[in-house]
Amino acid sequence: MSFAILDELAARAGEKFALHDRYLNPQMVRVLKTIGFDRHYTRAEGAYLFDQAGRRTLDLLSGFGVFAIGRNHPTVKRALADVLAADLPNLVQMDVSPLAGLLAERLLSQLPGQERVFFCNSGTEAVEAAIKLARAATRRAKLIFCEHAFHGLTMGALSLNGDPTFREGFGPLLPDTARIPWNDLPALEAALRGGDVAAFFVEPIQGKGVNLPADDYLAEAARLCHRHGALLVVDEVQTGLGRTGRFLATDTEKVDVDLVLLAKTLSGGYVPVGAVAGKRWIFDKTFDRMDRAVVHGSTFGKNDLAMAAGLAVLAVLEEERLIENAARRGESLLRRLRALMSRYEMLVDVRGRGLMIALEFGPPRSLALRAAWALLEKATKGLFCQMVTIPLFTRHQILTQVAGHEMYVIKLLPPLCLSQEDEDWIVRAFDEVIADCHKFPNAIWDLATTLTGNTLRSSAG
Ligand SMILES: Cc1ncc(COP(=O)(O)O)c(C=O)c1O
Repeated sequence: MSFAILDELAARAGEKFALHDRYLNPQMVRVLKTIGFDRHYTRAEGAYLFDQAGRRTLDLLSGFGVFAIGRNHPTVKRALADVLAADLPNLVQMDVSPLAGLLAERLLSQLPGQERVFFCNSGTEAVEAAIKLARAATRRAKLIFCEHAFHGLTMGALSLNGDPTFREGFGPLLPDTARIPWNDLPALEAALRGGDVAAFFVEPIQGKGVNLPADDYLAEAARLCHRHGALLVVDEVQTGLGRTGRFLATDTEKVDVDLVLLAKTLSGGYVPVGAVAGKRWIFDKTFDRMDRAVVHGSTFGKNDLAMAAGLAVLAVLEEERLIENAARRGESLLRRLRALMSRYEMLVDVRGRGLMIALEFGPPRSLALRAAWALLEKATKGLFCQMVTIPLFTRHQILTQVAGHEMYVIKLLPPLCLSQEDEDWIVRAFDEVIADCHKFPNAIWDLATTLTGNTLRSSAG
């Protein structure tokens, strides 16, 4: 057998866009080519991507948040290599996994109030598991979620998605769901009043838009849920494991959480994984008899590589004090980006927590710019942000994303190991690009006019 994956990759390296165009998703290839993001990356390390042309790109997207400890981290790599080399008895199924036991123990030691863990393979699977656990525990059907919520794209999670663009064309979705405005406790109470709600699913900070909750929102939501016999499920798939400068974004001393959902960061960026941590009684209601021991699960859940990656990630977060770095660096970055607001009329807000940061843009007041903005928005709502993300990438080698459909928000979700040099790089680049956007006419507005010919609606994660 002469199979050698790296030889195969090297021989066909130049064909990736053609292969995707032919066999996977031609629309994605179109998007990348249209906005000039069609690069040939050859290597990645920490917060950086390196390409064929020798450029170093600062990655503020981190694979939608999976590379929180940085790309190709040596500790995770070694853990995975060790597990592979040991020829462990993986996925015996009629057995229990020691690595899963260790990872559950380690996770729960950081999650006060939670006593059990269920492992799966992604964030959306964690949501699906939580839906089933909540329904089995409460014997109720109804699920509440927020406008702009994002909990994944499988059918259950999609039924809790607050963005019509994701839902469109896939119905009918789950019945017995209710959408309420974000940050609105009276609306939550009204939805709970019928006594038929199994759970309220909520992100502690909404990923689509980086919307922050009012101070007491989650604590009060928990009290309301419990008063009405419903569970509070906090979806920390994006915010959890250090992203916001603390282990969870939810303040678990104040918020009585029933189920916590994790994924992304836990993978080390190597092996897909998801986790639901929660109170024992909730799990016991689902796994309540021997013949129901496997009533929910997934063939690959708890696989050795995922569990080893999870253990390695938790060790790295601690050893490298990455959560402290996220808090400190995030605060500094937020302060410096906020300072730009006084100089640029179209930068209307900079918000976030830790290393989950949003820059929000809004219509200009000055006449020449106002007409240009209106033209752009008439063609495609939210397109203005591409005028920022494109030059950030092509001129400043910074990869970012627009935070959601039809939004004027650019989101930064960098690795938590971001350095002072990276911070300076980001501030300098945003300053220059936003300054350019405030001049009309110029090359950036020309680019936007070209883009209006295409329907650019690329955003996920
Ligand atoms: C808050 C939140 N929940 C769930 C998911 C879905 O996770 P996955 O893409 O791993 O299915 C995401 C993904 O971005 C997310 O941000």
